[in-house]
Amino acid sequence: MHQGKKALALLGTASAIPLLLLAISALAPASEGQEERRPGTPDLIGSHAQQMLAEGRRTFRYDTFGDQAFWSGVLQIQEALRSVSPRTALAVGLKVDAEAVPRGLLARADLDDPAVTAELLRRNAVVGLRGFFSQSGNLREVGITCALCHSTVDNSAAPGIGRRLDGWPNRDLNVGAIVDLSPNLQPVATLLGVDVGTVHTVLQSWGPGKFDAELFLDGKAFRPDGKSAATLIPPAFGLAGVDGHTFTGWGSVTYWNAFVANLEMHGQGTFWDPRLNDPVKFPVAARNGFYDVRSEQDLITPKLAALQFYQLAIPAPAPPPGSFNAAAAARGRTVFSTAGCDSCHVPPLYTEPGWNRHTAEEIGIDSFQADRSPDGKYRTTPLKGLWAHSQGGFYHDGRFATLRDVVDHYDAHFVLSLSEQQKTDLVEFLKSL
Ligand code: HEC
Ligand code: HEC
Repeated sequence: MHQGKKALALLGTASAIPLLLLAISALAPASEGQEERRPGTPDLIGSHAQQMLAEGRRTFRYDTFGDQAFWSGVLQIQEALRSVSPRTALAVGLKVDAEAVPRGLLARADLDDPAVTAELLRRNAVVGLRGFFSQSGNLREVGITCALCHSTVDNSAAPGIGRRLDGWPNRDLNVGAIVDLSPNLQPVATLLGVDVGTVHTVLQSWGPGKFDAELFLDGKAFRPDGKSAATLIPPAFGLAGVDGHTFTGWGSVTYWNAFVANLEMHGQGTFWDPRLNDPVKFPVAARNGFYDVRSEQDLITPKLAALQFYQLAIPAPAPPPGSFNAAAAARGRTVFSTAGCDSCHVPPLYTEPGWNRHTAEEIGIDSFQADRSPDGKYRTTPLKGLWAHSQGGFYHDGRFATLRDVVDHYDAHFVLSLSEQQKTDLVEFLKSL
């Protein structure tokens, strides 16, 4: 009121108008979409963001954190890879980055020749695998990167060969079969306190698109019903704004990145989580001191900031045009609300803002996987980009083959009594996210 009167008084003289405008623009906060920095000052935050993005992408795609000391130094996996042809590599789900090799080379290459695999590794073209070569050109060591499980390619050159899709889970990748190629699995057997035969059985039980991140903590390879305890490889896209990560909410993105780089990839770094010092819940972790890892050289901690930044910048991919029925999806959006789905999957994050964990009973499934985590809960999965990872099924272990199966499960569990039309519409809505 007071300021308004003052402005009116000023308006009395025409000469005061430019002055007034100047005063307003100086006081007004930068409006949306406008740069907040003053002209002429360097955009420190913007350039820092660009730098973090580039560094994080490099780490996500190419960094092994020194884990070749484990995969090659201990397991000797390079010995096996020397005789693996590109065709075999593609068959176990490995992907080739077509942009890392000249077009002609791929067209001419003999996909049955293991020497071509070495050449692809030399050019850094096998997604998620890094080859290290001796001066004479021999494959000396192999390490793995985050991209192994959390990237695929768009198949633009051929099946399994194309441009990288960072953050997309590789549901073709048979991690167990690849690790099982290692000539020396005794260290894994010793770690788990079992014999090598058992390690083979466990690795072969995972199947494509799955991995068991908790096996090396609790040694539980099978569920009570006898099926594999492995979970699906989740997407690493669309995670910004989401609180708890992993299917069972172990912690934040950067928590889990440190966990994986140290404990699963066996990189050289530092890791601290006293929750793992629990001989009953996590006997393998407690026995091996996984709750307090201190490597001589820390190749992980300096990379965590940019790695997290990059992951949070990866958007969930939009569904391709025509991949769902738009009218049905619009009706399905209403069903999503009336059925109460959006009380947990809160749009537009499609998980709860805040603490997004639930008991097994709440969602009507068994608690086996939840019980293998510190809080004993399941995390509400963010649903954006569902269409891009339908292969392998839904829920942490892929127990529901299709979205319709998921909807049928909720219909029974929450006693929703959805009509056939409502179910179809809801599925179309889920495909549209
Ligand atoms: C061998 C395959 C594999 C590799 C390599 C791997 N991950 Fe994962 N990642 C998984 C699996 C499986 C899960 C699910 C774990 C769970 O829920 O217990 C997961 C979960 C995640 C999540 C949680 C996603 C969500 O929905 O909240 C993030 C983030 C992630 N990984 C990032 C990374 C990063 C960064 C790296 C490299 C440092 C990496 N992962 C390396 C297989 C892998
Ligand atoms: C009580 C909270 C809650 C409610 C209500 C709920 N969900 Fe979920 N939803 C979850 C949790 C937790 C998971 C993770 C389950 C798992 O991975 O085992 C999940 C998983 C899913 C998934 C699988 C995602 C994936 O990538 O595998 C879909 C799809 C889904 N919910 C859709 C729905 C729909 C549709 C409704 C309404 C009919 C609904 N949810 C109601 C908590 C909830």
